[in-house]
Amino acid sequence: MSINQVEAVQAQYATADNLAVRIAFQARYSCNKQGFGPWITEQYDLRPGMRILELGCGTGDMWRGVTLPEECSLLLTDFSAGMLGTAQRTLTGRPEITFQQVDAQDIPCADNSFDMVIANMMLYHVPDLSRALAEIRRVLKRGGKFYCATYGEHGAVEAVARWLNVDAAVRYTFTLQNGAAQLGQFFAQVEQRVYPDEFRVTSVDDLADYLLSLTSMSQLAALPRDTLCQQLALHMKDGVIRLPKDYGLFICQ
Ligand SMILES: C[S@@+](CC[C@H](N)C(=O)[O-])C[C@H]1O[C@@H](n2cnc3c(N)ncnc32)[C@H](O)[C@@H]1O
Repeated sequence: MSINQVEAVQAQYATADNLAVRIAFQARYSCNKQGFGPWITEQYDLRPGMRILELGCGTGDMWRGVTLPEECSLLLTDFSAGMLGTAQRTLTGRPEITFQQVDAQDIPCADNSFDMVIANMMLYHVPDLSRALAEIRRVLKRGGKFYCATYGEHGAVEAVARWLNVDAAVRYTFTLQNGAAQLGQFFAQVEQRVYPDEFRVTSVDDLADYLLSLTSMSQLAALPRDTLCQQLALHMKDGVIRLPKDYGLFICQ
């Protein structure tokens, strides 16, 4: 199964359950305690009066601790009604934030209408990425910025895939390694920032849940859970499984 197959991605994000497993795992076992979400929002160049669009917003969690500058408006969108519902509940009572069901490949907004567009951890799911990037450039104002966080090809999944002799390459539609070239076809400036971190996991069960929540690791689901856990346990040293992380962000203009 490919990571950007529409039905698989829709099933994966029909509700926030799978994503919740990953968010909890990240929070518990990541060494960098700032957290990827707060690090990402710290990179945003937020200014008063901005119109901001986020695509594939997921649970909207990242905005929980962020106060927007005066007179900013934020349109949070996702193609999953279930996700949007969660985001709406998470961010209730914030009139500057509105919600809409939108597919990133077909943005129902006027040309040049946003100062900032955000698409974090989602471009690798989009079947026609060129179409989505053309749409993003179309709705972005001249001089506006596009932010997109993604993972790289040298992270925890790759390490586990090597241990288990599973192919992880289905994940590589948009990564830290190949993203700049794809973005460069639509934006004049592409800057990359890397988030420094690693995992130190103390529960094999939690690691198995995390891996099984990833669509891109669907080959693992073919293994009996006990076998998966036994294999993972072989890599525990002094009660800890250490795994690399490879995450970062592109900023485009
Ligand atoms: C891994 S989650 C990331 C959520 C959030 N951006 C974050 O960084 O926590 C990917 C999200 O993208 C959404 N998504 C996937 N394909 C999409 C598409 N073509 N258009 C809009 N949203 C999409 C999913 O429903 C899901 O909420």
